[in-house]
Amino acid sequence: MSTESKVRAVTTSRLKQMKEQGEKISMITSYDYTMASIVDGAGIDIILVGDSAANVMAGHKTTLPITLDQMIYHASSVVRGVERAFVVCDMPFGTYQGDPLTALNSAVRIMKESGSDGVKLEGGEEIIDPVKKIICAGIPVMGHLGLTPQSVHQLGGYSVQAKEEAAAEKLIADAKLLEEAGCFAVVLEKIPATLAKRVSEALTIPTIGIGAGAATDGQVLVVHDMLGMNKGFSPKFLRRYANLHDIMTEAVEHYIADVKSCDFPNENEQY
Ligand code: KIV
Repeated sequence: MSTESKVRAVTTSRLKQMKEQGEKISMITSYDYTMASIVDGAGIDIILVGDSAANVMAGHKTTLPITLDQMIYHASSVVRGVERAFVVCDMPFGTYQGDPLTALNSAVRIMKESGSDGVKLEGGEEIIDPVKKIICAGIPVMGHLGLTPQSVHQLGGYSVQAKEEAAAEKLIADAKLLEEAGCFAVVLEKIPATLAKRVSEALTIPTIGIGAGAATDGQVLVVHDMLGMNKGFSPKFLRRYANLHDIMTEAVEHYIADVKSCDFPNENEQY
């Protein structure tokens, strides 16, 4: 168990300053030590230990099955690889939507046992009491509005959210509530770009978009998606910066061929 906490170079006040100065915030997910050290070394501002670990690490269809213990395992592995970035850990489904004290206990476990810098919760008005309780304990909270994957069964899928004006107004009101409660930032997932612009202009805290257009104060992508490791997932908002699926497949095929042909190992690769 890691109980050691240290203040990293990117802090909540630095993130707010970046919004004020018009400097875009870069955020990416990671779930393990090696990936976290690579993205931190590249200079990312925020690392999200997303509950998307349920999908990309464990192969589940939704984010619902991942547990608090599993999130703490992923987050503590990430934290050991990070020097500079601000590390946020998702609170998994079922660990915060009920009474505020249970939410606080879950958040405290994440902070104590993983060494994360903050937590992320999905939802607006309906989770505002848990959000306030966690913030009162001195834990930085990031909100998450729009497409909230933990509610996929209620939403009926992963489609673009808040397209109608009434839903857009509710999302703006939720974003303001989260800001008033003391959240340091809000993720806006899969909403119209015009709405994301309205929210970003209405808030003094940074907005981080995924599938929410260019006007948010920062952007987030799932690292496996942006590195092209997941061929089957290609939503409109995703830009692939590498094709690691093919590069890795070719490398493994090459290795298999070398083993089969007795080319590997050669005399320089043995003792
Ligand atoms: O779990 C996750 O990866 C996320 C991002 C998509 C924002 O919540």
